[in-house]
Amino acid sequence: MNSVSNAGQPARVLSGMRPTGALHLGNYHGALRNWVGLQHHYECYFFIADWHALTTDYENPGQLQNHVRDMVVDWLGAGLDPDKSAIFVQSHVPAHAELHLLLSMITPLSWLERVPTYKDQQAQLKEKDLATYGFLGYPLLQSADILIYRPRFVPVGEDQVAHVEITREIARRFNRIYGADPQFPKLVKTALKKLDAEARNLYIADRHRYQEEGKPELLEKARELVDAAHRLDADERELLLANLEGEHHRLLPAPEVLLTPTPRVPGLDGRKMSKSYGNTIRLTEEPESVDRKIRGMATDPARVRRTDPGTPEKCPVWDLHKLYSSDETLAWVRQGCTTAGIGCLDCKRPVIEKISAESAAMRERAAPYIANPGRVREILAAGAQRANAAAEATMRVVREAMHLSAEPVQP
Ligand code: TRP
Ligand code: SF4
Repeated sequence: MNSVSNAGQPARVLSGMRPTGALHLGNYHGALRNWVGLQHHYECYFFIADWHALTTDYENPGQLQNHVRDMVVDWLGAGLDPDKSAIFVQSHVPAHAELHLLLSMITPLSWLERVPTYKDQQAQLKEKDLATYGFLGYPLLQSADILIYRPRFVPVGEDQVAHVEITREIARRFNRIYGADPQFPKLVKTALKKLDAEARNLYIADRHRYQEEGKPELLEKARELVDAAHRLDADERELLLANLEGEHHRLLPAPEVLLTPTPRVPGLDGRKMSKSYGNTIRLTEEPESVDRKIRGMATDPARVRRTDPGTPEKCPVWDLHKLYSSDETLAWVRQGCTTAGIGCLDCKRPVIEKISAESAAMRERAAPYIANPGRVREILAAGAQRANAAAEATMRVVREAMHLSAEPVQP
């Protein structure tokens, strides 16, 4: 994948997380670990979606501030680097709300009703009244969160892909309605002349195939080719990228999903690790507690006695081994488990050690921030400042496109 876009600048990445408080290993392996790696290759914006929390928990916002703080501290503990990434809180960038409002004008109700999480979550969270305007608009708020930074990539897990999809549709609709530029075909022609013949033909062929088949991955080659064409200036590049997607002007570029592989992270009871099941190991769990929790963790139910052989595939501890153990240890587990050569406590020991060591490293990195909450506030303020600057740049384009005046009207 190409991590570089226009003229050698690293491509922009944006993602967010709801403030659920202290994070657990499931959150880490499903998202955060990936973010930490991305910051070395991309220009990253990571934010805490506090408004999103209110879409479902509007009746009980009492813990919101604590959850935001605990989560940022865990982000920093896990290695998000405020010198590299902009780390901020959604509500500190009010333009997210402005863009949400403006996009709501052009968003068909049916698009929101069709988002799979809408009905699913309402059914799952029956105890809450989610027949609200805010809850229906949740994916649109997420679209605004994304589009306002004009990122190239949005790293998310499988469960969020539908939200990025609707974001792409909304961007295209916005561009179609407000971006028409009669000069466009001529400008495209001029820019294409700057490609060499081979690149030009490839570009045209790829674009054609994409229009026929609609698969975004078909555009990968054409995009790389545009990025690599040194005779194009930044505007011409932007133009050719927009043209690939059949847009006449990319006021709001449609972002791509960067799918995060989500390994199965089992909780202590063998179900998926989740705060609502109360079966979690926190990212910064104390060693004694890691030890106690994993010792008590569910195993293959067929291993009732020490002498009963087991099947690793039926055991949640095996899933942890797959995340934390070397091939050598995995082979030792398989051999020992299936022959009853080792007991479950023997088997758990290497996992306990690895997780304790990992959480010790995270606690150490988080400690200065816990000791100094002022430093955390500074980081969030600096992150919000960067985010506001980027958001404002997009909002100027959006307001102008929608014919909103930049200045208040003089009496
Ligand atoms: N909806 C996401 C979740 O529940 C959080 C989120 C909000 C987000 N806005 C976003 C993720 C923008 C990526 C991009 O996990
Ligand atoms: Fe699970 Fe290990 Fe026990 Fe086998 S030996 S059942 S893999 S804990």
